[in-house]
Amino acid sequence: MRPPVGSLLVCGIGQLVTNRPDLGAGPLGVMGDVDLVIDDGIVAWIGPSATSPAADAVLEAAGRCVIPGFVDSHTHLVFAGDRAEEFTARMAGTAYDAGGIAATVAATRAASSSRLRETAARLKREAEAQGTTTLETKSGYGLTVADESRCLEVAETIAEEVTYLGAHVVAPEFRGREEEYVALVTGPMLDACAPKAAWCDVFCEKGAFGPDAAREILQAGRARGLGLRVHANQLSHGPGVQLAVEMGAASADHCTHLDGADIDALAGSETVATLLPGAEFSTRSPYPDARRLLDSGVAVALATDCNPGTSYTTSMPFVISLAVREMHMTPDEALFAATAGGARALRRGDLGALAPGFRGDLVMLDAPGAAHLAYRPGVNLVTAVVRAGRLVS
Ligand code: NIG
Ligand code: FE
Repeated sequence: MRPPVGSLLVCGIGQLVTNRPDLGAGPLGVMGDVDLVIDDGIVAWIGPSATSPAADAVLEAAGRCVIPGFVDSHTHLVFAGDRAEEFTARMAGTAYDAGGIAATVAATRAASSSRLRETAARLKREAEAQGTTTLETKSGYGLTVADESRCLEVAETIAEEVTYLGAHVVAPEFRGREEEYVALVTGPMLDACAPKAAWCDVFCEKGAFGPDAAREILQAGRARGLGLRVHANQLSHGPGVQLAVEMGAASADHCTHLDGADIDALAGSETVATLLPGAEFSTRSPYPDARRLLDSGVAVALATDCNPGTSYTTSMPFVISLAVREMHMTPDEALFAATAGGARALRRGDLGALAPGFRGDLVMLDAPGAAHLAYRPGVNLVTAVVRAGRLVS
């Protein structure tokens, strides 16, 4: 049991982004010149400074902007080694293909669990210092029963949302025997991993898993009580998004190559389109059509996809900059997608907004307004990070 948190008063907030249009101005519900109180981890009160209640601790905002903590709903933080040479070759013109995953699988299998824990913890601290207060992370670089299982044990030490991705690619030793690998992923590997995860994910793509295998894997995960997520339509147009909607997945991630039917399916569903522009940046690929998704009424999230192959960044502010500059999202849309959007992609009704009853997760920016996140790219504006009422960074 952790000791009680007590109460925290954040005073002198110049602009508070609540993500609740009923509470303030514009789509982000911005309130000016307010204080905010978090009691025992939960937002308890927002109002004018003159009437603010006493609290156990005080954090002075001095007119700065305060936003909800970032919800990074898609990362791969459990791995060993890096692939800087692959990145360098790509920048010189070599195309990305999923084959690079095998290099990280070999390095991860060879690494001790304590080594994996250290790397994952370093990346978590890096993310936190840039404003991330909720992390999802996955297995997927083990691909044996024992390695997937220990990768999930590592994941549990750093992330509050943990995903089983035994179906990242067919393990190298099963090449040419995909059916046998799917039987492993849906059988003994799932038995070992389901108790350590909340979600089941599959990479549905040429070179990874086709629609029938992917459906079988998702059905097996669902039968074990896991929620569903899909790596969908990343490298080419394919059946991933339609499968995610058909299966009621919480999220279809990447969504880079979509047609009109995919967008219609997402718009009529509970499945969030999670866009990961760090991957397009680092693979020098065309970005997803965020404008078309948003204008069609699809719920959109933004996440880092942090992994050593396609997107080695933990920075949600960087992702917001890409979303605004490269995908034509407005600064307001990008911030909402990086906070409330991520919460929705994880089906977490307690996260992603600053209003009474939500978890007290907030980021103080050394800026007068949240548009500065995209307007000042590459500059760390984060001056304080509070998670569940505790100062963490
Ligand atoms: O989300 N798409 C599949 N998985 C990762 C890339 C993995 C890798 O190249 O190591 C992704 O981009
Ligand atoms: Fe990914």
